[in-house]
Amino acid sequence: MKIRPFKVEQWMNEWETKAVYNLGETCIDSLRIDELLELCGEDAEEYLRKLGGTRMSYGHIEGSPELRQGIASLYRDISPDNVIPTHGAIGANYQVIMSLVEPGDNMVCVKPTYQQHYSIPESIGAEVRPLQLTYAGKFLPNLDELSRLTDRNTKMITINNPNNPTGSWIPDEMTKEIVKIAESAGAYVLSDEVYRGISESGEYMTSIVDLYDRGISVGSMSKVFSLAGLRLGWIATRDADVKNACLARRDYDTISCGVLDDMFAALALRHKDRLFARGKSIIGKNRAILDKWVRETPETEYIRPVAGTTALVYYRKQIPSREFAVRLLKEKGVLVTPGECFDMEGSMRIGYAYDSKQLQMGLDKIAELLREI
Ligand SMILES: Cc1ncc(COP(=O)(O)O)c(C=O)c1O
Repeated sequence: MKIRPFKVEQWMNEWETKAVYNLGETCIDSLRIDELLELCGEDAEEYLRKLGGTRMSYGHIEGSPELRQGIASLYRDISPDNVIPTHGAIGANYQVIMSLVEPGDNMVCVKPTYQQHYSIPESIGAEVRPLQLTYAGKFLPNLDELSRLTDRNTKMITINNPNNPTGSWIPDEMTKEIVKIAESAGAYVLSDEVYRGISESGEYMTSIVDLYDRGISVGSMSKVFSLAGLRLGWIATRDADVKNACLARRDYDTISCGVLDDMFAALALRHKDRLFARGKSIIGKNRAILDKWVRETPETEYIRPVAGTTALVYYRKQIPSREFAVRLLKEKGVLVTPGECFDMEGSMRIGYAYDSKQLQMGLDKIAELLREI
């Protein structure tokens, strides 16, 4: 099975450790274990002492009851039985696509998005029909275009909500229209919701599983929970066939998610309100810093992100995005992700949910280079 190189992951592997100002990061400022324990009101010494008595078995194969309860609590109408823990959202996406999409199927996938969603189906011989999100369309799916691309042979429509890299969020009314189109084709909707959880208004963010029986939500502890080191994600679906297909495959590539990951994730989920409050304050502050910078930097423009942790910033200079990003790193120490990794030339993805000071300093350095070019 031949598969295209995963551009964004290869970019990060090559350059992330060389950054002085990391604006490539997509997780909300990752927590240390002692910070997590403090946030959750645990006595660190006591907790770690108890941890010493943990048997390093496979643990609960399909996730502990506490973990599955915690994940289910992120949705309106999902029970712990509707949840399958996986190795990160990356494992969840892989699981879903490999379990449901077959050679000869077609699937419609928003672009830009996380490359898994189009390169994996393509690698197994499915036809991928990109649904291009555009600047003019505020990076929201064009429903007429989606109708045109979808037919009776469409197995799956894939959205990424909130979207990476643009930070757009599909309003509920539009998601309902997507569901109607999927329903008429008998297609699943896979919604990669790894950045879901923290809204600007503080309101609950609707999941695809709230709106569609054949909807599949993917989430993880990495981004809004700041715990990417856990490598713990999940699939949530009310569709029994999807669940069974994923579980059958999971026996071959996962077994369990590991007792430590399960335990820390369950703890974090039990205190999700505190983690979300921390995340919301970082995002709110940093989104404002980014927004001010874009408004004050005439060489740039963007669609203001409304959710997630990333934005796609366009620059008004004639230089390929990879060349620009490499110069930025070598000359100014700033890591961004070139738009080219998302097939979006003339832009860069900025991850703004890390440290506020690094963000401001990094943005100033970007402006410096833009003026120099
Ligand atoms: C849209 C999207 N889906 C999935 C993933 C993978 O996340 P995880 O760390 O949970 O495997 C990422 C990571 O960047 C992502 O941006």
